Amino acid sequence: MPFKQKMEDANKRTGSNIVLALDLPLNKPGKLLIKAKEILKAVHTHICAVKLNRHLILPLGLFGDVQSLIGQAEDYELPTIMDCKINDIGNTNQIIAEHYFKAGFDAVTANALVGWEDGLLPVFDIARQSNRGVLILVYMSHKGAWEGYGQKVFIHENGRNVSQYKIFAQKALKWKADGAVVGATYPKKIKEVNSILGEEVPIYSPGIGAQGGQIQKALENGAKYLIIGRTITLSKNPSSVARDLKLATQRSLSKGL
Ligand code: XMP
Repeated sequence: MPFKQKMEDANKRTGSNIVLALDLPLNKPGKLLIKAKEILKAVHTHICAVKLNRHLILPLGLFGDVQSLIGQAEDYELPTIMDCKINDIGNTNQIIAEHYFKAGFDAVTANALVGWEDGLLPVFDIARQSNRGVLILVYMSHKGAWEGYGQKVFIHENGRNVSQYKIFAQKALKWKADGAVVGATYPKKIKEVNSILGEEVPIYSPGIGAQGGQIQKALENGAKYLIIGRTITLSKNPSSVARDLKLATQRSLSKGL
């Protein structure tokens, strides 16, 4: 089943559009794995997918402990995303994607800045061949995002200046990406990007809670999935926090209907 469909099914089945960013602070590897598994077990009914980042991949290693986490997510029928922000030449990008897909991840994140030919084309090729997904960064959630994603690009053909993130959104559409990442900390940008992407490319929005983004604003401006990490993973009771966040998203969505 294609990744986009897998996400929609998980969303319907769980009633949640929260993607858990399973990030934990530096710790002893053994404890990290146990803690990560405990959190995933506690929150799995309140989320629709799991996203991993270098927080766990670096200390635990891809083949082995991380694969057992992916296996746990699979047991819960939750898609897994590797937030690796692929950003190199095509040959290297292909090998990065092959490793993550071989380990069992359903999708990877990638940076549109490297372009298509000999850039992200091989990543999309291998993703398509194996029903995996590629999520394109369009506007990141952190404070300095404007320095890159917000800069104006001079278009020679028409002499106009266009914001970089709008160009990235157009690329995500043209490349038939499985998702576009726009920070919840910039709800107006979510709206602008959503008007470019329409129904074709769902918006994944990180930055809720710990970075100051708000659920309702992200959803009402067009985000489909909310990526949430520390608010859940660092809380004393991840299960009840995840449940409350899920209920908050459901309330926001029902207001919009
Ligand atoms: P927190 O703890 O801030 O975690 O809820 C957010 C998670 O998402 C990652 N992140 C991003 N990933 N584009 C991305 O692809 C972004 O703009 C972005 N902002 C945050 C972050 O590394 C963490 O894993």
